[in-house]
Amino acid sequence: MMNKYVVMVSLAVLLSACGEKAEKAEAPAEAPKAAEQAQQAAPAAAPAIDQAALAEEAKSAVQALGGTLKGELEAAMKAGGPVEAMSICNTRAPEIAKAVSAEKGLQVSRVSLKNRNPVMGKANEWQTAVLNDFEAKKAAGADPATLAHAEIVGGEFRFMKAIPTGEVCLTCHGTNLSPAVTAKLTELYPEDKATGYKLGDLRGAFVVVKNLTQ
Ligand code: HEC
Repeated sequence: MMNKYVVMVSLAVLLSACGEKAEKAEAPAEAPKAAEQAQQAAPAAAPAIDQAALAEEAKSAVQALGGTLKGELEAAMKAGGPVEAMSICNTRAPEIAKAVSAEKGLQVSRVSLKNRNPVMGKANEWQTAVLNDFEAKKAAGADPATLAHAEIVGGEFRFMKAIPTGEVCLTCHGTNLSPAVTAKLTELYPEDKATGYKLGDLRGAFVVVKNLTQ
């Protein structure tokens, strides 16, 4: 029974998880198709994996994390400037990610090929491959704001959404940092790799992981 389930699930993955199609989960018009494929691959007896619904869940977690971070960052920049805001990012970013993860019943975080947070910001092997793929698509002309990838791997639903570098980000991730920002960065992140970005560069990606076996 277990074996059969695994086979059916892998079939569903084959049908709907390759880069191209998974990416289309981003577009609402394609979502029913992905769900249909998952259903066709798994007969009624097996639990069908609704990848479109999972993608919606993931996107809502990304929006919750991204929106809260953006709000707190802007408020802190306004209230105390970038050095003050740096301390907020340092403590609040991990806290917010943890709170949203608990609330949504999944793991949401941010990673980068050039990470600032030495632990949580570091992309693992799978995430690195997806980020490299985003970079290649961007180099081929894709708008980074549209880049996303969804896949089921080893009993997990995994989702990544690219984070472009905006104007406000350059204060702490750009090429021309103020001495005060540089000093604070050196103090908090001696191994910081997350500077030198230009407007529109890929800063990294949101990552959502949901365990499907629980
Ligand atoms: C006030 C300074 C500041 C600004 C402005 C800022 N960041 Fe950051 N950013 C940080 C700090 C500090 C961290 C590390 C947070 C941590 O330890 O989790 C960070 C981490 C990140 C990470 C997680 C990956 C990593 O490198 O560790 C991403 C992604 C990111 N920032 C994107 C952005 C984007 C996009 C913007 C603009 C919308 C932005 N940041 C603006 C200070 C800033």
